[in-house]
Amino acid sequence: MTLVRRHFDALIIGAGGAGLNAALQLANANLRVAVVSKVFPTRSHTVAAQGGVNAALANVLPDNWHWHMFDTVKGSDYLGDQDAIEFMCREAIPTVYELEHNGVPFSRLDNGRIYQRAFGGQSQNFGGAQAARTCAAADRTGHAILHTLYQQNIRARTHFFDEYFAVDLIADDEGAILGALVLEIETGEPLLIESKTTLLATGGCGQVFRTTSNAHINTGDGMAMALRAGVPLMDMEFFQFHPTGIAGKGMLITEGVRGEGGYLVNKDGERFMERYAPNAKDLASRDVVSRAIVTEVKEGRGCGPEGDHVMLKVDHLGEEIVSKRLPGIRESSQIFAGVDPVVEPIPVFPTAHYVMGGIPTNRYGRVVVPVQHGPEEVIPGLYAAGECACVSVHGANRLGGNSLLDILVFGRAAGQDIIEFLKENPNHRPMDEAAVEKVMSRLTRWEEKGEGISVQDLRAEFRKVMEDHAGVFRTDEIMAEGVEKVKEIREKLKDLRLQDQSSVFNTARVEALELENLVDIGMSIVLSALNRQESRGAHSRPDYPDRDDKNWMKHSLYFYEEDRVEYKPVRTKPLFVETFPPKERVY
Ligand code: FUM
Repeated sequence: MTLVRRHFDALIIGAGGAGLNAALQLANANLRVAVVSKVFPTRSHTVAAQGGVNAALANVLPDNWHWHMFDTVKGSDYLGDQDAIEFMCREAIPTVYELEHNGVPFSRLDNGRIYQRAFGGQSQNFGGAQAARTCAAADRTGHAILHTLYQQNIRARTHFFDEYFAVDLIADDEGAILGALVLEIETGEPLLIESKTTLLATGGCGQVFRTTSNAHINTGDGMAMALRAGVPLMDMEFFQFHPTGIAGKGMLITEGVRGEGGYLVNKDGERFMERYAPNAKDLASRDVVSRAIVTEVKEGRGCGPEGDHVMLKVDHLGEEIVSKRLPGIRESSQIFAGVDPVVEPIPVFPTAHYVMGGIPTNRYGRVVVPVQHGPEEVIPGLYAAGECACVSVHGANRLGGNSLLDILVFGRAAGQDIIEFLKENPNHRPMDEAAVEKVMSRLTRWEEKGEGISVQDLRAEFRKVMEDHAGVFRTDEIMAEGVEKVKEIREKLKDLRLQDQSSVFNTARVEALELENLVDIGMSIVLSALNRQESRGAHSRPDYPDRDDKNWMKHSLYFYEEDRVEYKPVRTKPLFVETFPPKERVY
């Protein structure tokens, strides 16, 4: 078969906020940039981000980036790298103004400034009031940002490959990345994109869990591609469960609801967060609130006939506030829970929301790997940004509103660094045909015939295993069993067969490739979790209930080869301010 080839200066895989903000830098610098997306770009998962983006603009209460940095370090349970966090919090302010100038329709205060709301884990230093640092466009902030970035990219002439699925990266013998093999979903035809630089911006992997706020597309494709290219995944044991998913369904009800004054109650009508976080209460950080909800349910104070959820009360805010500030969650609650929050509480329970770990990068988006007995090395030509990357700014627990910020700041930083890289590396490196053939075999494997196992069945089995063995609370026994079950599922992947082998719009083939990605990532989660013998942030172990800074203030690195887990130190030295030393974390 003749493989069609296209050549670009930069290939960006993923068209969410990170990919589009990087692409915009590159297209504006007149570089040839290709964005590959398995869905139409404005359907990328950034569109689902609700509550807002953090920046210490001080539009509502006094604030500054140093406080933002402190809150983020504390929120990360001291596992975040402080130089990267400092960079992100300083850059937040110009980043939000750049968005405003690019046309993002933020909600406004009466004085015309950008509206900001309180979010979880933000300091209470302002006469006892909580900071209001989260810049919002009602409860559809991601939607507003994604559409603006897409339109700006169209104006800048970014080249989009819509509905193309990235199969794998192509590397040379020295490990430099030369582009990727992609599949046009409409025709089933492969396409080879040769590129001087490649940015992975494929978002998260919430689909590893059965109940999730993540879209069907969030299958961690970029992370799995990196794994197969020999890059480890960092801190994958830290998976965030958002406290307020719609009970039994998982769709997100934004933390902005609590930022606007909503609160949680148990079956006795008690505002139970007062017991778990006496100061911040419902606006404690997400790991704290999720554990509190699960504990209420486990101890018999859950609501509903099964006692399996708690209630989020909003009715006291009144219809005007709900319609103006939270129209999206009113609609979601009506559709998915059958309740109108203006008059009834919303049934909620934690839902798998966000992976703090990912592809290790420096703060310029360059993918870095450890080298035995030496400093880390960058992988030539490979970048990652957004949820698929781990800079690390979220450590063991991300603060709400820092995800949109991360994708924008580090998408931009990666775009800027690629511009510099291309000045020094203006030519394509030669591509070895054997490397292409190896990647092609990942596609041709699906031509194998026979009964085999169905993708849907194995996917359902896998996601249930992850939910049961890597949830909010984890013990040695539960996780060890989880590792064995994921290993068994990994073996079963070999027996998967496609019943429909047609080429045109064969979404079954895409789902099979996605399942392979999910299972590889699932293993990185359960194995890294099993090995970490402490409780920190979102990783909560009743058998090791305390944080152990002496032995565990380090990042884990999971390698695909031999299912190996190694460690590297946390970067505790910021560039401009003093280190925040670890303290007991209370809210
Ligand atoms: O609750 C939310 O609106 C989610 C925001 C986030 O994950 O940052």
